[in-house]
Amino acid sequence: MGKNWWKSDASGIPAIRIEPPGPKSEAMHRKTINHMRGLSGQVKLFPVCFDRGYGITLTDVDGNKYLDFSSGIYVTSLGHCHPKITEAVSRWAGRLMNAHDFTTPVKEALMEKMADVLPGDLSAFQLYSDGSSAVEAGIRAARAITGKHEFLSCFRDFHGKTMAAVSCAQMARGDVLSYGPFRAPGFYMLPRPNPYRPLFTTADGTVDTDRYLQFYDEFIREGTAGNAAAFVLEPVQGWGGSIFPPDDFFPKLRSFCDQREILLIDDEVLAGMGRTGTWLAADHYGVVPDIVTLGKSFGNGFPVTAIAVREEYAPALDQISASSSYGGNPMACAAALASIEVIEQENLLENAARVGDWLMKRMLAMKEAHPIIGNVTGKGMLFGIELVTDKQTKTPFDEAGKLVYQKAFKKGLAWIPAGHILRMSPPIIMDEHYAGLGLDIIEEAIDETEQAFGYP
Ligand SMILES: Cc1ncc(COP(=O)(O)O)c(C=O)c1O
Repeated sequence: MGKNWWKSDASGIPAIRIEPPGPKSEAMHRKTINHMRGLSGQVKLFPVCFDRGYGITLTDVDGNKYLDFSSGIYVTSLGHCHPKITEAVSRWAGRLMNAHDFTTPVKEALMEKMADVLPGDLSAFQLYSDGSSAVEAGIRAARAITGKHEFLSCFRDFHGKTMAAVSCAQMARGDVLSYGPFRAPGFYMLPRPNPYRPLFTTADGTVDTDRYLQFYDEFIREGTAGNAAAFVLEPVQGWGGSIFPPDDFFPKLRSFCDQREILLIDDEVLAGMGRTGTWLAADHYGVVPDIVTLGKSFGNGFPVTAIAVREEYAPALDQISASSSYGGNPMACAAALASIEVIEQENLLENAARVGDWLMKRMLAMKEAHPIIGNVTGKGMLFGIELVTDKQTKTPFDEAGKLVYQKAFKKGLAWIPAGHILRMSPPIIMDEHYAGLGLDIIEEAIDETEQAFGYP
């Protein structure tokens, strides 16, 4: 089986037989929501019912076949049902499903592989089964390492929905209002440099990273009890809209933390394991964090997540037990190991970087051509197109975001934009042909949306 395994199912996509969401989708969705509540905005806006996935395609119960431009939710980065990963999980599903946190042959192989591919001395690991639990473990680890208990994070970063993760994350306004105080004591959020919407600027109007750091310094002195254990950072804001920081931010934050003996927790649940064309998004900035969280692409669909900690802090991990019901079970280890091997064997870091550069050039041209595209961002196969009512005022154009989302979905693009930012994370196996097809659909939907809102 070669690296083009997914192409056998991709020719002729998108293939829309009946306008989606079709009658079967609607009927199944209606029955489901009799019981299942609290669905995401994307599902509410486009209630399609998916039946199968293969490589870069998704097929719904009405027989419509879509091009996948979000990898589930940044999860199936190596394509749906990669045969090697399916085979590895199935093998262990038929041999040994759970062995507490005892060693298994597949866990031993995964540990060695992770130590091999992660940068620097990130060589002490614990395994969990969702991203939020990995973030919790990262926070517990930071407390055990430093003996301190305060945490800093950034506005519009997202880290999960368990209580410590929520405490350092931005939550949707509706969620926050519905369950009251949601940030535990000792968790503080700070502004983060967004090159398109900078709060602090230099004389020429560009983002001023140093002033952000000066503000952090002031805040730590005046607003904390002097017990900051760690800065928790998303290297790229995923939920926030594929927002990359200025190139100097991560390295400067690393030095800032070092000077104050604060650990740097890099939450790579969304951006790590190949998504941006490198193993970690932090690799783009030459930074080795103290603690890294991994999830999503780590198991390519199987729920397996991890923390990775620098060697010098490994002893502290003995104070936080890694034992959990599902963490590191053999199927999970098999999925993670096979995913890393596939990335290596199919040269997918290089693929993500190459196709990503190509897509970025096209998106920059789109920005020039469209009055409602205010900004485009991306590295590897993680992108955002920000829609605005006016390029001067940069007013977010949420209504256009919704319409583009629905129109493109109807044309056969399965994706998950958020509000006025069109977030994209196609499988990193994709080539230029199919990536271009996806952008064609988006551009058509943007054209139609501009017409609907009376733009020239
Ligand atoms: C950066 C980041 N951290 C943590 C999480 C939480 O992961 P999970 O949903 O698997 O608990 C997410 C989920 O989207 C995320 O994007």
